Amino acid sequence: MTAEALYLELKAKLEKVVPDFELRHKAQLAHEINCKKAERNAVILGHNYMEPALFHSVPDFTGDSLELCRKAARTDKDPIVFCGVRFMAETAKILNPDKLVLLPAKEAGCSLASSITAGDVRQLKERFPGVPVVVYVNTYADVKAEADYCCTSSNAAAVVESLKSETVIFLPDEYLAGNVARDTGKRIIFPSQLGPLHDSPPEVDYEIIGWHGRCEVHEKFTVEDVENVRRQFPDVVILAHPECSPEVVAACDFSASTSAMIRYVEQLSAPHYLLLTECSMGDNVAAANPDKEMLRLCSVRCPHMNEITLEDTLEALKHECHVLGEKPMANTLDNARKMVASAQQAGRAYAVMQNYRYSPNIRRLQHFLESGEIGPITTVHSDFYIGAHFGGFRDRMEHVLLLDMAIHTFDAARLITGADPASVYCKEWNPSGSWYDHGASAVAIFEMTDGIVYTYRGSWCAEGLNTTWNSEWHIIGEKGSVKWDGESAFQAQVVTETGNLSSELQDVDVPPCDDAGKTGSHAGVIQEFVQCIRTGATPETVCTDNIKSMAMVFGAIESARAGRKVGIES
Ligand code: 13P
Ligand code: SF4
Repeated sequence: MTAEALYLELKAKLEKVVPDFELRHKAQLAHEINCKKAERNAVILGHNYMEPALFHSVPDFTGDSLELCRKAARTDKDPIVFCGVRFMAETAKILNPDKLVLLPAKEAGCSLASSITAGDVRQLKERFPGVPVVVYVNTYADVKAEADYCCTSSNAAAVVESLKSETVIFLPDEYLAGNVARDTGKRIIFPSQLGPLHDSPPEVDYEIIGWHGRCEVHEKFTVEDVENVRRQFPDVVILAHPECSPEVVAACDFSASTSAMIRYVEQLSAPHYLLLTECSMGDNVAAANPDKEMLRLCSVRCPHMNEITLEDTLEALKHECHVLGEKPMANTLDNARKMVASAQQAGRAYAVMQNYRYSPNIRRLQHFLESGEIGPITTVHSDFYIGAHFGGFRDRMEHVLLLDMAIHTFDAARLITGADPASVYCKEWNPSGSWYDHGASAVAIFEMTDGIVYTYRGSWCAEGLNTTWNSEWHIIGEKGSVKWDGESAFQAQVVTETGNLSSELQDVDVPPCDDAGKTGSHAGVIQEFVQCIRTGATPETVCTDNIKSMAMVFGAIESARAGRKVGIES
């Protein structure tokens, strides 16, 4: 469709709600977006709160958050552009881990989503063990990860009822929880009414345990607003989103999700309607129902939804980014392979923050070994003993040592030997006294290509006699050995004359090396990454190489699970 044809289409729908000069400008932008969308095989999802010109021009699908999640789950298009707020884009990403999901404005948050943290949910679960946790879709991914169920405004009561549980934790919207409690005939209580968190829960007859999160838009509507409008327009039909207070919802004629409100207006034949929700939706409903009068209370707008503009949507589609990600690259080797394939398919660099290989002293060791002074390497041992009381997610994480830390040590072994892994035998355990939930210690024996044997001994709950975070290394070659304490202390000896029992040995220096481009820890990785993007070179921690260190980690995990040696595909 040409820009002119799109303008005429928008004019027919929106001339009563958007001035003509603005429609012309927006039709031009929407035309450019639609061309870019086709070129990139993208799909655009638009929430019902999007401003009218955007809502009626670029989305392939519009709807409430549940409908859009379902569309995101079924689409075969990639990327997905989500014209909505961050939690919605995150949900689309959870449903499509292999696809690129673009959110046009990173500021597009949500007061409900930011009202609760994953730590808050964990504390509630500790306090009410075994009670199912339902979270509203208006939450961030880490909060969802702590929940048993996720609902939206259109299925919240049905989800709670389906659990057939006497008590349910429902987070984080205080008002939605209140409305669900009323719809399901349950009594509701909030943690603040139960005394300090460390106390055991008092014997009270609560059935829904809520949280004090609120939507900064819907909390502003009052029963007085409803009464004032009714006085002036006695025949008005008033609809409220269930994020409004239970008192406001009770004073209205209908309450449901954004899409259910749209359908309700379409089906009724009353002359006047008032929607107690984000104001843009009133414009969209008015445009779709020219025969019906929409009243508006537009002093209340969602600042987050209004961050999404046609300009930003176009920008999002234009950006085809290179990515520098945190290690480990993925939570399974299969997912890591998919990420490598996606990066290759997109023709973009995807590199990993494997910062330990950017330390000046590991480069010094690498250069010394490369010089051949101790002859070809035959054996490498590394020891990692740290007592790290992090608190937080690591304490709960499975395979915490192997996945979160040993990846650096394994990667360092590949760097200094230049060899790839061929097989591994690993024992992983959680020593008594460990403050982690799982796998804080491990030993592993790797057979590397070139016949090198590499052994790893590690613990994250070793109190006393700690090594450095880089590990302590002992490397044996055919003509000598070298030790590195992980900081600046090196010790190396080479054979000067082979003896009968012992050879004649001589201490040698491990000379400093000038490898400025490959040092600087995190900053070094970033610097090299940016440089490579500029010049078209390949960063050293590119996913196609880093996946070999990942393979060492997942090989070790598999071996520990199976209790036998496993092969590692390079
Ligand atoms: P819906 O699920 O009804 O679309 O609501 C999302 C939202 O954020 C309402 O403020
Ligand atoms: Fe969040 Fe409220 Fe905005 Fe919806 S309207 S996105 S709940 S702040």
